[in-house]
Amino acid sequence: MAELAGRVALVTGGSRGIGAAIALRLAREGADVALTYVRSKARASEVVAEITACGRRGLAIEADSADPTAVVRAVEQAAADLGGLDVLVNNAGIYPYGPFDAVELDEIDRTLAIHVRGAFIAAQAAARHMGEGGRIINIGSCFADRVPYAGVSLYAMSKSALTGLTKGLARDLGPMGITVNVVQPGSTDTEMNPADSPDADAERALTAVGRYAGADEIAGTVAHLAGAEAGFITGASIAVDGGFAA
Ligand SMILES: NC(=O)c1ccc[n+]([C@@H]2O[C@H](COP(=O)([O-])OP(=O)(O)OC[C@H]3O[C@@H](n4cnc5c(N)ncnc54)[C@H](OP(=O)(O)O)[C@@H]3O)[C@@H](O)[C@H]2O)c1
Repeated sequence: MAELAGRVALVTGGSRGIGAAIALRLAREGADVALTYVRSKARASEVVAEITACGRRGLAIEADSADPTAVVRAVEQAAADLGGLDVLVNNAGIYPYGPFDAVELDEIDRTLAIHVRGAFIAAQAAARHMGEGGRIINIGSCFADRVPYAGVSLYAMSKSALTGLTKGLARDLGPMGITVNVVQPGSTDTEMNPADSPDADAERALTAVGRYAGADEIAGTVAHLAGAEAGFITGASIAVDGGFAA
């Protein structure tokens, strides 16, 4: 029996990168999976086609995580169309980077709206559908704990807030049998952070293993947290960062 058979998952930002890898991994382990996207409609449809090819049900929902109404609608649609909700993965993210002085108010607001408020609202809506065995998994960043260079204050602030949210939610939802954890990836080869970018060698040098992760390596940890064996892990920040934080 597949580990996640009979479970329903929603992955925000599942059209590409780490979110797409998570959506596919959960489907391969037996879950039906809804995913959100904001721009990449065709790619979201491709991920759904791959989920369907695994014999699972897939659903792509256009929903900007910066828009609370859209976030709640996505949770409700996933639960209604797929018959409940057991696993929420708050993955949607952006990477604001640049001189501290140049960061503008709307960039601060949008980053916090996607990474923090969107995750909060999604968890609130999702928890109403979950019972014993429910799983909320936030995708944070190794920059939540350690910031190795300038230009990422806004990004690091937002991911640290997600870590605080994770701990609070673990306390709020623990009595209902719902676990809440944050996975903190290090450098992972996606369009957000390509392994062949001009800065990539400097990022590799910050790790213990001297390389980038593949998105599947992040997805594997998420799948474990989604499964039954992870029922005693909650409120945890789990680094999948090649030793960046060592
Ligand atoms: N790559 C890394 O090195 C790294 C390291 C640490 C943490 N992370 C975190 O991992 C997560 C995924 O990153 P990634 O590298 O896979 O990035 P990516 O390749 O840029 O993919 C981002 C995904 O998020 C979606 N998205 C972006 N803004 C959204 C919004 N407002 N509403 C809904 N969906 C939205 C995108 O949808 P569209 O395709 O429709 O735009 C896409 O599916 C992020 O939270 C990121 O901060 C990444």
